[in-house]
Amino acid sequence: MNIISLVLKNGSQYLKNNCIKNYQLDAELILGKVLNKSREYLLINDNKVLNEDEVKSYHNLLDRRKKNEPIAYITNEKEFWKSKFYIDKNVLIPRPDSEILLEKVLMYYKNKRNVSALDIGTGSGCLIISLMKEKQNFKGTAIDISKKALKTAEYNAKIHQLDHRIKFYKTSVDNFFKGKYDLIISNPPYINSLKLKYLDEDVHKFEPTQALEGGLDGFKIFRKILRKSSLLLKKGGKLVLEFGFDQKFEIIKLIKQEKYFINDIFKDYAKNDRCIICTKL
Ligand SMILES: C[S@@+](CC[C@H](N)C(=O)[O-])C[C@H]1O[C@@H](n2cnc3c(N)ncnc32)[C@H](O)[C@@H]1O
Repeated sequence: MNIISLVLKNGSQYLKNNCIKNYQLDAELILGKVLNKSREYLLINDNKVLNEDEVKSYHNLLDRRKKNEPIAYITNEKEFWKSKFYIDKNVLIPRPDSEILLEKVLMYYKNKRNVSALDIGTGSGCLIISLMKEKQNFKGTAIDISKKALKTAEYNAKIHQLDHRIKFYKTSVDNFFKGKYDLIISNPPYINSLKLKYLDEDVHKFEPTQALEGGLDGFKIFRKILRKSSLLLKKGGKLVLEFGFDQKFEIIKLIKQEKYFINDIFKDYAKNDRCIICTKL
């Protein structure tokens, strides 16, 4: 009989047999997606009988997970900071380490009002939307080179009722000349092209290359951002960037060449240097 508890048990066993690490959690999240219910609902209603269509959809999604497709692409959601975001294959899945960037921005801007902020490479929009939710009187602009990513970000802004406070532009950072900003934030693509294939399979096979690849040395987009930000920032404005765990020294060198003052460097949860905050001189 297709009761929830049994379907879940079989589903998680199936994922376990196929070497999926969080097999139990993933099996629950996937069934939750099929039924459009929370994990709590599944526990409370573990005797409920599922119909054939529900079981069929469940098996289809389990098969996608078995092939290592990230759970966020299957369930179309990911939590970041204090909110849930709609996620699809056109955007990078927001990472907990990127919350450090947001946390430090909030620390630096604790008592600031009416700040205009630009997010370069917004992806799902998780950074700029979380910032706008925290700071009611900030104004946001977000750009991305990917039309599809930008659509996802706009959709998230709508879900979070922030579409009136964030302007979105589909453009590469090189071609963006609009406005002057107090604050620029970015989590750019920074993986060396040659190292892409060595990333975990779920990352390099499923996440958009455009969101990961930072050219042959990993710094291609950083250079563009640094150059453009010195034009887009107001004097005394701040640039806050996420970078790769092994990129600190090169980033410092590039930032100094573009005449910024480096305020601080922060570590991620694994104690790797991960985020830099600097001021336009
Ligand atoms: C690492 S993802 C970050 C997404 C999101 N901000 C986050 O933190 O989860 C980088 C984003 O930069 C965008 N991007 C890549 N090259 C770009 C460029 N030249 N100009 C603007 N955006 C770019 C990609 O499409 C991708 O959405």
